[in-house]
Amino acid sequence: MTIPPSGCPAHTAPGRVVPLSEITASASLPDTYDRLREVWGPVARAELEPGVNAWLVTGHQEVLKLVRDEHIFSRDARNWKDWQNGVVRPDSGLGPMMFYRDNVIGADGPEHRRLRRPLDDALACVDQRQMRRAVERTCRERIAAFRHHGQADLVSEYSQSVALLALAEMSGLNPQEGQELLAALAKLFGSAEDAQEGNRRFESILERLIHARQAAPKEDLASFLVRHDDLRSDAEVLQSLVVLISAGQQTLSAWISRTLWLMLTDARFESRLRGGRLGVDEALDDVLWRDPPMTHMPARYALIDTELGGQQIARGDALILGLAAANSDPRIHPEGVEREIGNRSHLGWSAGQHRCPGETPARLIARTAVEQALHGLPGITLTGPVSTAPSPWMRHLASLPVQFTPPGSPTA
Ligand code: HEM
Repeated sequence: MTIPPSGCPAHTAPGRVVPLSEITASASLPDTYDRLREVWGPVARAELEPGVNAWLVTGHQEVLKLVRDEHIFSRDARNWKDWQNGVVRPDSGLGPMMFYRDNVIGADGPEHRRLRRPLDDALACVDQRQMRRAVERTCRERIAAFRHHGQADLVSEYSQSVALLALAEMSGLNPQEGQELLAALAKLFGSAEDAQEGNRRFESILERLIHARQAAPKEDLASFLVRHDDLRSDAEVLQSLVVLISAGQQTLSAWISRTLWLMLTDARFESRLRGGRLGVDEALDDVLWRDPPMTHMPARYALIDTELGGQQIARGDALILGLAAANSDPRIHPEGVEREIGNRSHLGWSAGQHRCPGETPARLIARTAVEQALHGLPGITLTGPVSTAPSPWMRHLASLPVQFTPPGSPTA
């Protein structure tokens, strides 16, 4: 990556604008953000795709301003100048994460609050003990499918499916329907030809669930959502479920696999496996500080010409939330960026009106999944290098190869 040398004045910013995916893929995020800050200050220019630039906000207080002031910074991508002017093509790879969607994520103000209340209310009613038991069962079933092999890839064989199946069950789907949803999602994210079919299948499974709960409600998210006064149509109920599952699946999977990786490779956590000091919750927090599932969260769009972190932001500019960058901002770590055990003031969940509503169930699912893997796979060790899947937004592990003692072996 070419970042201009240090010492350049913050606002003149010589040198090329660095592609965001290069920043995301860098070996050391803190070093990369330090160099960006030297050149640009707390709000840097970054390239989203050739010819399309945005602001990457790397300062902690600047990210807070960005997410808290929706009168200046909108969540609605229809305010994005490059989209209005056709600079970003309709088939751009940026579309899935950045284009406007008629749901809670793309809304501002009272409309956002109306669509958000049902999610907060429904998630607050989740029965934690019941969910923990369901997640434990799911984890044991997944582990049973591969533990005789003595080796596994914990991303494709464990964290991805545990995350989706847990969210499916919380929504109201039974394990069989959860498996169908998993298959539909695999198509959706698989080859281009299958994507449409996968999407239709995904939505039709959830539509069937909505109709079933309208006829006979139970104690699950779908039943809660179909009865919520703020949702005005079946389509809004469907969108709420789609958002809950799709916003949760990738992030949860990433959190589980990163935390497992940390516990297997970092001496402080690794010793815990053999009776040491730090446990799963501390490892989960460490990941949210250092490598949060959403490294760079899209986006807010300036509604007026304004100033942020010393940069002149023009109306219609896109601004990316540098969540990992904000967590490493030296201004909030006057003593140095040391471990933040017990401190949860990171921005892994973002902040402001759109702050993630899924924190409580996410922690329960992730903690359970990590504990079950560590206990269910005796002698677990990492067997190879890990790499991250390329993306401007996330640094998800592409695989997590491990070996362990299979049942029935003399050392099991
Ligand atoms: C596992 C770790 C997770 C992380 C790190 C995470 C992080 C985030 C972040 C950074 C945002 C963006 C906030 C913004 O734009 O300012 C977000 C939004 C959201 N998340 Fe999560 N999330 C996680 C899991 C979940 C789960 C399990 C659910 C559902 C149960 C969920 C549901 C949502 C929803 C619905 C939104 C949109 C909220 C809105 O726009 O008002 N997330 N999440």
